[in-house]
Amino acid sequence: MQRLVIEGERRLSGEITVHGAKNSALPLLAACVLSRGETSLHNCPKLSDVYAACRILSRLGCKCERNGGSVTVNTDGLTHFDVPDELMREMRSSIVFLGAILGRLGKCRLSFPGGCELGPRPIDMHIAALRQMGASIREEHGTLDCDVGRGLRGAKIALSFPSVGATENIILAAATAKGQTVIHNAAREPEICDLARFLNKCGAKISGFGETTVVIDGVERLHGCEYEVCPDRIVAATYLSAAAITGGELTLLGARACDIETVIPVFEQMGCTVCLYDSKIYISARRGLKAVKTIRTMPYPGFPTDAQAVVMAALTKARGTSIIIENIFSNRFRHVDELVRMGADIKTEGKVAVVDGVKRLSGACVKACDLRGGAALVVAGLGAEGITEVGDIKYIDRGYESIETAFSSVGGIIKRV
Ligand code: UD1
Repeated sequence: MQRLVIEGERRLSGEITVHGAKNSALPLLAACVLSRGETSLHNCPKLSDVYAACRILSRLGCKCERNGGSVTVNTDGLTHFDVPDELMREMRSSIVFLGAILGRLGKCRLSFPGGCELGPRPIDMHIAALRQMGASIREEHGTLDCDVGRGLRGAKIALSFPSVGATENIILAAATAKGQTVIHNAAREPEICDLARFLNKCGAKISGFGETTVVIDGVERLHGCEYEVCPDRIVAATYLSAAAITGGELTLLGARACDIETVIPVFEQMGCTVCLYDSKIYISARRGLKAVKTIRTMPYPGFPTDAQAVVMAALTKARGTSIIIENIFSNRFRHVDELVRMGADIKTEGKVAVVDGVKRLSGACVKACDLRGGAALVVAGLGAEGITEVGDIKYIDRGYESIETAFSSVGGIIKRV
């Protein structure tokens, strides 16, 4: 089993490139199913979840090839409509293939993605919306059997919560449905905009994305295109956290500040200097860190739940008391026990975590429990005295392209063993 070994308390300094966003690449790969012919996605990150999505595409009959940072998908041979259980389990966000397969083939069979590290992950909104659009969906023995009979049709859908996955599935299903679909209370995340822009480039008619009401006018068919995946805003937040905890100075190349407008002020409140440029972010954390009053995770444009763990790691060494309220997922403080092992002073009650800053963290053997929680342990390890060993790093590899290479390149001492 691989682990990361980190020798902490080295100031990070230099330039570091932010790779393409996992949460954008995955729905884009699913969206390829809808388009006829060939599609090339550039800046497609080399992540285990992306490889899992490519395996799903291959299973469906598509040709999927990687060439450097680009993935090319050809859907000419697309015939299968089922995703086997073992592939569904590899990556829980594979549910986003549902809307795409239904849109292209009119039927789809896949197993329930099930609960996960972050707590139960229901898909009731996805299912209710697709039913509204005319899909008949049977849920039996852990499998979803879906059929659209005479085709999907547009509908007015009001989401009770702006779910990212549900919004993506509806957009995918609606792109080639008959008539107009309107999503009220849609998710507004940058990854939703990336999906809509990509589909529009393939010939779809989607407007209002990035706002709470998205309108999709169904078109007959979509064609392939070339598209560049947007930079990963959570990876950017992770690098900022690592700079902060090590008292470092980093320039994040390829980062898009507009996607993390609610994250940057948190670093400024911590006492860091942050400068924003067109496609880079500079951070300097030479002074000691200060606590921040309250961070509440919220749907975009609020503070992202995915950045909660890494920012918490930085706050463990900030002078004073910080409060973090996790509003999106019920089980997203699993990194806390591991941070406490490293000397952090954190108490949780329900969705609230109280972080009392300590002078020093001390290196320890810890285990990643989920993707972002695992990244938080790496951030803490970089700021801790002595050696930290992070186990179960398969979670981290789901969302970070060789995290050890990235941090080594800016002065961190970190290796995979
Ligand atoms: C996506 C992201 C994930 C991020 C999350 C919130 C991907 C691949 N993953 O996950 O990294 O943390 O958005 O920003 O893009 N819910 C329901 N019923 C549903 C759907 C969701 O109750 O049918 C609930 C979930 O349990 C959760 C909340 O809604 O409490 C948000 O979930 P959602 O926005 O759907 O997250 P994901 O799309 O799964």
